[in-house]
Amino acid sequence: MTALQIQGLLHEGKAKKVFQTDRPGVVAVQYKDDATAFNAQKKAQLAGKGLLNWEISARLFEALEAQGISSHYLGCLEPGWMVVQEVEIVPVEVVLRNRAAGSLCRQLPIKPDTPLQPALLDLYYKDDALGDPLLTEARLELMQLLSAAERVELERLARAVNAALQTLMRPLQLELVDFKLEFGRSADGRLLLADEISPDTCRLWEVGVADAEHRILDKDRFRKDLGGVVEAYGEVLKRVQGLGSSPRQYR
Ligand code: TMP
Ligand code: ASP
Repeated sequence: MTALQIQGLLHEGKAKKVFQTDRPGVVAVQYKDDATAFNAQKKAQLAGKGLLNWEISARLFEALEAQGISSHYLGCLEPGWMVVQEVEIVPVEVVLRNRAAGSLCRQLPIKPDTPLQPALLDLYYKDDALGDPLLTEARLELMQLLSAAERVELERLARAVNAALQTLMRPLQLELVDFKLEFGRSADGRLLLADEISPDTCRLWEVGVADAEHRILDKDRFRKDLGGVVEAYGEVLKRVQGLGSSPRQYR
């Protein structure tokens, strides 16, 4: 087969660009160095972040696939670029929390670090202008965002991803505190794991480090102005590289 041809820009998000390709139903994703937080109210350019999140995401999508959890991910092109199945993104952010942190502790009287078992699953409406509001089951139904069967499938997949990621990360001395997933519908109507899995979208703490700031290896370093953001992401990549060989090339 001839090499994949990248065509026009389809969509530019805060951290990635999506391009059409010459293959139907196949799009190319480029990871950007842009960092945003608080629904894009805080912005910066972090040189190297795009490459780090690209490789971390590719490796994690492959590791999940090896455990039977498929996603939109198909393979990689040059560094910074991956090829994915085209999906229609469901405007719902699925957050799984294994330990209390972030907005949970701002919105409810729950002490930071409190273990949450079973993991708390929160759904948010994906809309920066509205501040990604928390969804209730009634609001989800009102907005007709997911069918009843998709709602069940989404939760099953999200909990399976949580279990698989925790199992993968524990030996790497990384604690998966919480993370956000997005799902999309493929042309044949299946709900597929999509977007990215990276320190931009996960809270990851270094196991065995008691200091509440030193242990942070994720975007909280940027949100809280702790510095060393790219270095922390690099540390996560170094460990995730320990899971196996380089991400596969898309052919
Ligand atoms: P939160 O504590 O701010 O609600 O975040 C929970 C998790 O979701 C955390 O790992 C960061 C991630 N997240 C995103 O990836 N994108 C977002 O827009 C938000 C609000 C959180
Ligand atoms: N991803 C969101 C933003 O870019 C919020 C966050 O991660 O803090 O604004």
